[in-house]
Amino acid sequence: ASEAEDKDLVIIGGGVAGYVAAIKAGQSGLKVACIEKRGSLGGTCLNVGCIPSKSLLNNSHLYHQILHDTKNRGIEVGDVKLNLGNMMKAKDTSVSGLTKGIEFLFKKNNVEYIKGTGAFKDEHTIAVNLIDGGETEVRAKNIFIATGSEATPFPGLTIDEKRVITSTGAIALQEVPKKMIVIGGGIIGLEMGSVWARLGAEVTVVEFMGQIGGPGMDAEIAKLTQKLLSKQGMKFKLNTKVTKGDDSSDVVSITTEAAKGGKEETLDADVVLVAIGRRPYTYGLGLDNIGLETDNRGRIEIDNEYRTKIPHIRSIGDVTFGPMLAHKAEEEGVAAVEYLTKGTGHVNYGAIPSVMYTHPEVAWVGQNEHELKAANVKYNVGSFPFSANSRAKTNLDTEGLVKFLSDAKTDRILGIHIVGPNAGEMIAEGTLAIEYGASSEDIARTSHAHPTLSEAFKEAAMATYDKAIHY
Ligand code: FAD
Ligand code: NAI
Repeated sequence: ASEAEDKDLVIIGGGVAGYVAAIKAGQSGLKVACIEKRGSLGGTCLNVGCIPSKSLLNNSHLYHQILHDTKNRGIEVGDVKLNLGNMMKAKDTSVSGLTKGIEFLFKKNNVEYIKGTGAFKDEHTIAVNLIDGGETEVRAKNIFIATGSEATPFPGLTIDEKRVITSTGAIALQEVPKKMIVIGGGIIGLEMGSVWARLGAEVTVVEFMGQIGGPGMDAEIAKLTQKLLSKQGMKFKLNTKVTKGDDSSDVVSITTEAAKGGKEETLDADVVLVAIGRRPYTYGLGLDNIGLETDNRGRIEIDNEYRTKIPHIRSIGDVTFGPMLAHKAEEEGVAAVEYLTKGTGHVNYGAIPSVMYTHPEVAWVGQNEHELKAANVKYNVGSFPFSANSRAKTNLDTEGLVKFLSDAKTDRILGIHIVGPNAGEMIAEGTLAIEYGASSEDIARTSHAHPTLSEAFKEAAMATYDKAIHY
């Protein structure tokens, strides 16, 4: 391309961070191109992450509910059978509909979609190895790196996505394994473990820490969630570290040891899911050619306007700092373009919700009790169980609770933690509350429709600064 054809912005990576930035840039009148090597847009989230996993979570829950939770509702069902092939097809349909939708949005917003792998040639030039063969070069005034992340491998186990799998294999198994071991009781382990447990696998989750769900999940909520998932048949080994794996025979085996050292144990399974976290992905990006380095965890270093040390090159999404979440990537996509076009942007990292889409769902925003204690903050706690909520009772879906943490002096909400039906939708209200600096009394004095699950949210707020009515 000649100088005259310079783009205003080229984005490497068409995942959530990249495609959202591309659309925003197109809407802002920038001449923009997005390079994606996967052959479809939407990145990890749409192709092998959020969307396919939620499809399987939804439909496996329905299957499990039909098997175990219909009689007391007055529904007699006959022969219930799993057709895994069709369940996978339903998943594929949601994925392809959404990824194609983004191609449409690119066209609508004048974003050029370049299908290929991009690598820095120099600070303004990206060489692209095209999927359909051949090469091209794009020059740009500004470049965003939005290359995302990949599953962290486990040393000693070779990922074949059939017997030793990451989440990518876990959304595509062709039969229900008899025994599945999940290494890592974080969000992926629990979501995908749930899917296969509901479909009939004997699932054992081995987790290094003393609680499931990762450190962001409030300890009380994590404990309750573990109890509820155990009732659904999942087994847990906490405070246990997987030290070795062996996939050389018919069964895959792993060796575990108590986290604090001690007794070794060997466990066998047909399928082992490695879910020990994800790491930034910059392979083949040619960062060396422009003198950009990553930090000790592989993340691209940026300032608070997403600029790398080369100011016209910015980085957003999983490949840089912060939680590896699609909605965080999306916020950054918009903000980075706004920094470029207007000089200001906005992401409130204190108000990014987390949701685990098990049943019941777990959702939280802000700080948990452990974090508040560590920071020496005095706080009030208010909670309300779904078992005392009228809608949960009519739905026969009463497990879980809502818990508020607010500043002891000002009553400003510091954290909201929910395990229960529709927690993932309910947390939006909590996020808005934190974004607006609301107090628990603000929520408690806001009318919530009856009968809805959201009344449990209101009553937990009431219990924080005063007393709940129904409990
Ligand atoms: P990615 O989505 O990883 O996109 C990066 C893209 O860049 C990829 O498509 C890749 O092919 C492309 N790329 C890389 N290098 C190059 C190159 N050199 N040239 C061209 N293209 C390149 N988050 C949630 O918020 N909610 C969820 O429910 C959720 N569920 C998940 C379930 C699973 C199983 C997984 C694995 C993740 C889940 N996540 C979820 C996390 C979410 O997927 C990520 O946070 C999100 O995809 C990050 O977006 P991104 O654009 O930064 O990166
Ligand atoms: P994670 O970081 O959430 O959990 C990994 C777990 O593995 C940790 O609890 C860790 O203690 C444990 N672990 C690590 N090494 C171990 C060992 N040797 N033995 C035993 N346990 C070990 O990572 P996960 O679940 O792989 O997810 C990756 C990312 O994907 C997360 O950052 C998450 O935000 C994102 N994601 C988000 C979803 C959502 O928002 N619903 C769904 C799925 C993924």
